Amino acid sequence: MRITTKENDIESILYSEKQIAAMVETLGETLTRDYAGSRPVMVCVLKGASIFFTDLCREMDCNIDMDFITVSSYGASSKSSGVVKLTKDIDVDITGRDVVIVDDIIDSGLTLKHLKALFSTRGPRSVKTIALLDKKARHEPDLTPDYVGFQCPDHFVVGYGLDYANNYRNLPYIGILKDEVYR
Ligand code: IMP
Ligand code: MG
Repeated sequence: MRITTKENDIESILYSEKQIAAMVETLGETLTRDYAGSRPVMVCVLKGASIFFTDLCREMDCNIDMDFITVSSYGASSKSSGVVKLTKDIDVDITGRDVVIVDDIIDSGLTLKHLKALFSTRGPRSVKTIALLDKKARHEPDLTPDYVGFQCPDHFVVGYGLDYANNYRNLPYIGILKDEVYR
């Protein structure tokens, strides 16, 4: 298997490359159906959602816009600071458009809640949210994204775009990081 140096830091594999591909294909079909006749603006929350985003967009059999935002990160910490700041905005005018925000993982739910509220002030037709992973136990049910890839246990996970201190993003699977790596 690839990337053996990083593998020493992984406790266990949560979702394999195969499982991820199957999920992304199904989600792409759902979005293709739900946005038939529209041309949604797909918004990627960098950097964590980047790999998921490009895979997902390729599974959508309809016209789309692709755009990218950056929000302030939590740095080398594994805990949310609760502060969300937009450091790179989208270029597309979303007035009257269907917007779909794609993030990597929902923990406290603050990031997606903030982004949804922000884009809603710009006169879009709709704003929906997607999270690759949902740490359901960590947030109120009303903060659940409109579309979820996989449920996620209350562990720190990395791979397929998700990082710890900017590392592990290029693992092809999603794995639980060993405690000792971030303690
Ligand atoms: P929220 O605002 O608390 O929902 O935080 C979501 C963000 O926290 C994600 O976009 C990630 O950047 C980060 N995050 C939360 N949990 C994890 C994890 O288990 N692995 C990697 N990043 C995480
Ligand atoms: Mg993030």
